[in-house]
Parts: sequence; structure tokens; C-alpha cells
Amino acid sequence: MAKLSLSKEKIKVVLLEGVHPDAEKLFKADGYDNIHVYNSTPEDDELQEILKDTHILGIRSRTQLKGQNLATCDKLMAVGTFCIGTNQVDLDQCKIQGIPVFNAPFSNTRSVAELVMGEIILLLRGIPEKNAKAHRGEWFKSAINSNETRGKTLGIVGFGHIGSQLCVLAEAMGMKVKYYDIENKLPLGNSEAMPSLEALLPAVDVLSLHVPDTELTRQMIGAKELALLPQGAFLINAARGHIVVIDDLVDALESQHLNGAALDVYPEEPASNQHPFETPLLNFDNVILTPHIGGSTQEAQFNIANEVADKLIKYSNNGSTSSAVNFPEVSLPALHDDLTRVMHIHQNKPGMLERINHAFSSQDINIAAMYLQTSGDVGYVIMDVNCESSDPIVAQLKDIDGTIRVRVLH
Ligand code: NAI
Repeated sequence: MAKLSLSKEKIKVVLLEGVHPDAEKLFKADGYDNIHVYNSTPEDDELQEILKDTHILGIRSRTQLKGQNLATCDKLMAVGTFCIGTNQVDLDQCKIQGIPVFNAPFSNTRSVAELVMGEIILLLRGIPEKNAKAHRGEWFKSAINSNETRGKTLGIVGFGHIGSQLCVLAEAMGMKVKYYDIENKLPLGNSEAMPSLEALLPAVDVLSLHVPDTELTRQMIGAKELALLPQGAFLINAARGHIVVIDDLVDALESQHLNGAALDVYPEEPASNQHPFETPLLNFDNVILTPHIGGSTQEAQFNIANEVADKLIKYSNNGSTSSAVNFPEVSLPALHDDLTRVMHIHQNKPGMLERINHAFSSQDINIAAMYLQTSGDVGYVIMDVNCESSDPIVAQLKDIDGTIRVRVLH
């Protein structure tokens, strides 16, 4: 097992915002015991104080790691966002400071797909309306507009992780699946790729959106697209709020062109559970409204905790940056027992590698293996070397103009 130049006991791990306890367990099981867990989101002043001597930081979506908060992070070595998004982190600034950021982009794929599958069943049976009426003491026993899923056509826009997982569930329920993706995606099962959104829309009973928030997808579903859906169709959006034009959806529901909808995401979402939720869709009994919980399950939290903690531990233990969102990605083998691993993060400019190599040769150190990856402004070079003491070479490497950070594993 590699010995860290900074021993695991000394590496300060801070987990904020009530990160799932499995993350702490994983660090402990790997020998880290300087772990500080906070269930809250510290205010900026407290955060800056905490960050002064933190080596590894785990956050969720509320902690803002930008501007002044990043300026005080001299020792910060890696950040894990124990969630899907990374908007709360200034990724470029982290990169420039030599800090890889890791997240868990697909840990909640199944959770979203299952919610949508449930909503498809409920919408096709008219349950949202019947449920709302029952809560008001009204008895609405009727088979009109109440349908099985079997044989109905589901349209999926965006056949990525969630869209394709949903396809598998829907086909298992006997649905036909047609999808549209901007990329060529291999059909799963009996699903059928459609050449365009316009070709997909008239062919579905239920349309479910699973695209990212991009310039192309913002307001992708407005009056024109809704009109192309067959009379009585349903719309589901558990992707991102700006994909659907809400006023146009309201019109389509009011005119009863659509029989219902399910939304998990909105153009404006409350900042917290303490803030009120407002949308013009509140008055529709046939619309399911959920508070952006598509991916919020215990299983997803567990997956996220394990995935992100595992990536942070790998980086700390052997330097691997696979799937870092802002950093040159390098997947490294375990360090051989009699070698020392020197990791050099630097500004990506001409001559760096030559200067690094020269530092080793000038100290008569043999390089047994070398790995290099660059990404934009930053380069990451890893050398497994034979040397008695790493201190002189680390000192020389740190002196190279453009060096951002040097780390060593023995
Ligand atoms: P993904 O990246 O695996 O798949 C997205 C797919 O959309 C890709 O196949 C891509 O080629 C396609 N796409 C991109 N632009 C397109 C366009 N203009 N037209 C057609 N297809 C396009 O993403 P994943 O993990 O499946 O997530 C999908 C959405 O779900 C994202 O918006 C994500 O933010 C959202 N999401 C929502 C959650 C919730 O709690 N409701 C939880 C997790 C993800």
C-alpha cells in the first residue's frame, strides 16, 4: 500500500451539507481519520475559515465554491460534489489552482426513470385528477380516458442515461418506444429512432423529455411542438425547467389538447423548502407537480456517496483523475512498491515537459514510468521514479516557472 507524503491521518477531509454517511465510512475504511462532518452549509466567513487547512472537500449543491471562498484554499487538493451538478463550483478557477473536481453524474439515473414510469401509468389512468377530487370529497368513478400502458407509444427526447433506462422500463410494461436524440443512438430492445423532433411528436401518446439544458434545448417544447402532439397526449418533463414554455403548456391544457402533464422541474424553482412554490400549473388537477425530486432517493444518495468518495480516495491515494469534470483525466495503475510517484500540475505551456525532465535528469533520477495529460490551460504529469528521498526533486520541481502543485506518493 502506498504511503502518502502527507499521511492519511494528516489529510483533512471536510464533508459539508449532510453528505450521506457512507462517504465518511469509506474514507475511514481506507485509513483516513481526520474527517470533519457538518450537517449544515456554513456561511462564507465560516467556510473560508474551514477551507484554510482542508485538503479534501465534499459538498452538495448549496455550498458556493467561488471567488473569495476559493481564494483561501491553499491546501485544497480535491473537491467532490456529492450531487449531479457542479454549477456551485468555479470549475475553471479550481483547475487553475490545481484542484480536480469530481461528481456523480449518473448515480440517480434509475431513480428518475422509475419516477417517470410511475407517472406514465398514473397519467394514462387519469389518477392525478381522480386523486385530487377524492381529496376534496368528490367521487369520480369512471373508465373514460383511463388506459393501460400496454400498446401505447412513449416518445423519449434525449436517449442518454435516463432516456434509455426509461425505454427499458417502458418496453417491459408493453409500451412501444420511439425516441429522438441529436446524436446517433443505438436503439435498445424494439425502440425506434426518429429522424427529428417533428417526426416524433405526432407519433406518441406520452412524450417524456430527457435532454440537458443547452441553448438548443431551452424552450424546445413550445406552442408549435405541443400542437404537433396528438389530441389527448401527455407531457412529462423531469429534465430541466427551461426546456418547456410553461405558458404554452398552460394553453395546451386549458384547451384540452393535452390530457395532462407531469413536471418535476420548473424555470423558477424555490431556493429552499422554506420558500413558496409558484407556477401557473397549480390549478390543473390533471398535472402532477413534484419538487425536483426525480433523482432524490436513498439509493441515489447511497450511490452518489460511494461514487464520489471513491473518486476522491483514488485521487488522494494514487493520483488518478478519471472522470474529473474540470481536469486532465489520467487513470493510473497502482504504484509499484519500490517506486515513488511524483505528480506535477502545471500551466500548459511550451517547454514544461522539458524542464520537468531536466529536473529529474539533473538529479540523476531514473523515470520508470510517465503519464501525461493536458486540458486547456493545465497539464498533469505523473512520474514513477526510483529515488531515495523525494525532497530535493520536489523542491526543484516547485521552482519551475508555471508549476501549480507538486504531490508525492511513496
Ligand atoms: P445524458 O447526458 O446521459 O443524456 C442526454 C441526452 O440528450 C444525450 O443522449 C444527448 O445526445 C441528448 N441531447 C442533447 N441535446 C439534444 C437535443 N438538442 N435534442 C435531442 N437530444 C439531445 O443525460 P441524463 O443523465 O440522461 O439526464 C437527462 C436530463 O435529466 C438532464 O437534463 C438532467 O439534468 C436531468 N436530470 C434530472 C433529475 C431530476 O431530479 N429531475 C436528476 C438527474 C438528471
